[in-house]
Amino acid sequence: MNAVQDPVARVEAAVTIAVGAVGGDAASGVNAALKPSAKPEFGDFQLNAAMALGKKLGRPPRDVAAELADALMSPENGLGDVIEMPEIAGPGFLNIRLRPTALATALAGMDDDRLGIEPEAETHGVTIDVCGVNVAKQMHVGHLRSTVIGDTVARLFERVGRTVHRQNHLGDWGLPIAMTLHSLLARKVDFESLDLDTLNVAYRDAQLEARGDVRGLEAAIANRCGAHRIAELEAQNESAGTAQAAARDALVRLQSGDETMVVAWRRLIEVTMTEVYRACDLLGTRIAPDSERGESSFRNELAEVVDAFVRSELAVEDDGALVVRFEDRERPMLIRKRDGGFLYATTDLAALRYRVQELDSDEVVYVVDARQRDHFRDVFDACRKIGWATLPDGVESKLVHLGFGTVLGADKKPLKTRSGANFKLMDLLQAAVDRGVEAVTSRAADPKAPTHGLPADELEAIGRAVGIAAIKYADLSGDSARDYVFDLDRMIAFEGDTGPYLQYAHARLCSMLEKAGDEAATDAAFRIETPEERRLALLLLRYPETMKTAAASLEASRLCRFLYSVATEFSSFYSACPVLRAEDPPIRAARIRLVRLTRDVLRDGLGTLGIGAPERM
Ligand code: ARG
Repeated sequence: MNAVQDPVARVEAAVTIAVGAVGGDAASGVNAALKPSAKPEFGDFQLNAAMALGKKLGRPPRDVAAELADALMSPENGLGDVIEMPEIAGPGFLNIRLRPTALATALAGMDDDRLGIEPEAETHGVTIDVCGVNVAKQMHVGHLRSTVIGDTVARLFERVGRTVHRQNHLGDWGLPIAMTLHSLLARKVDFESLDLDTLNVAYRDAQLEARGDVRGLEAAIANRCGAHRIAELEAQNESAGTAQAAARDALVRLQSGDETMVVAWRRLIEVTMTEVYRACDLLGTRIAPDSERGESSFRNELAEVVDAFVRSELAVEDDGALVVRFEDRERPMLIRKRDGGFLYATTDLAALRYRVQELDSDEVVYVVDARQRDHFRDVFDACRKIGWATLPDGVESKLVHLGFGTVLGADKKPLKTRSGANFKLMDLLQAAVDRGVEAVTSRAADPKAPTHGLPADELEAIGRAVGIAAIKYADLSGDSARDYVFDLDRMIAFEGDTGPYLQYAHARLCSMLEKAGDEAATDAAFRIETPEERRLALLLLRYPETMKTAAASLEASRLCRFLYSVATEFSSFYSACPVLRAEDPPIRAARIRLVRLTRDVLRDGLGTLGIGAPERM
């Protein structure tokens, strides 16, 4: 383990101890962070803590720096073969330089299948709420974000050795579904040949039919509108009333297991999910039928959930309904309506109890639109109050809503088609794939391209990977809480901070290794000599730490940023240091091994993001 452990992390830990030992009480609030040095002559890192400490202690900073250096090098830190004796510079900076052998040893320690990432010794699982589509409705860009970010967060946890449960909380139950079923059955639609577009229209029509315009009628009367307008609104409200009654009747039949209704309902789900999985597969996510646990699967627990809240006196009656109140907010959470119906929140209470208690999760992450923030705040607090967030061994499960922002069009408004309709997810993905295939095919026309002469189906597969990488990387590389502009031109560029750029960097490394032939399997000792080799080595050594932090903070963007710096740092290394053309055989072998390790880190990192890494581009 020590051989693998990132030497930078070891120095950081020792610095914290040294600053505490030298500064005593004065150490609190002093910045003990290592800063990468501006120039290679100043070593690899600079520590500036002596200046602040000197001021607080009323002592010359250079004296404090000397004491820090001694404390750092004290035998119990074991840094003797990791760094050279730190140098004191200027008013009291400490310049810290890692020993080249320490870098070489640490790199060798991470050069295996795990790439230095030790599995976490955690017995509980983690649940990720992903996708969350609604049955009978087209998947839209919002579900894209939940699917992409959710699946990647799951992969981050898996990569650090956690057991992960992806849970797809389908909207597959309740009045809107019953309404849609009713309207399809009434129109004697052929359920066999049903497709999602027809379903989507039926869903919308059923909603419209049942939506009266009570406010409109009141306003029309108050504003003394013409008798014709008032009569029209009255008629609309009357038929809405009829439609609502029919829908409620349909819901009762569905709930009581009426054969025709249930068969039709299953078909509805099947039609929707076939399409959803097409998108999930194209996106390369590990979301499959075994992740499905829709709202309907909790339907028989809802009465009991409400009872539990009533029994523990956490739910009270309010105008015939049952609500849970919170000390710190006005708005109560409704868990049973006056007519006895249950709500979205009631189902989420049951689902959360299941995730913590049955799936044994010490962390539950909801990757859902940021606009549902208040809902999850209520659900989490209610679960904590009633004790469902506590595991049998007393561990408090961490409940997190990872809310994401809206996908915007070029006009900075929520992404819409030219006719103002919501973008279908599949159309969006297809556009990206088309662009990817186009880019890859046109590059392959160049006789010098590594893809030149590949069969069309292989080029297409590479192009598909490029298009999907463009979309996913754009979604993952920013702060997920923020809105982002969907700009395919920028996302698909082979230059800049994009998915295709990283894929391209990876493919270039693959072709270098291919040229190296048998030599690529070298286990020659790493030799870290030039400044560019040092910078690349120091960066690669941060891989395990980066992965752990990305998983712990649920921030895939950290991994994106890291991989992007690996790709750019590799470019600087490659322009400064010949690899296959290096004359000295041990140097050539050491560099080939460094190229291979860089390639492995890029490939593993892209895989953890859920992005394909073609070997040729
Ligand atoms: N079906 C919901 C929607 O489209 C998302 C479900 C999110 N997950 C949850 N456990 N509530 O808004």
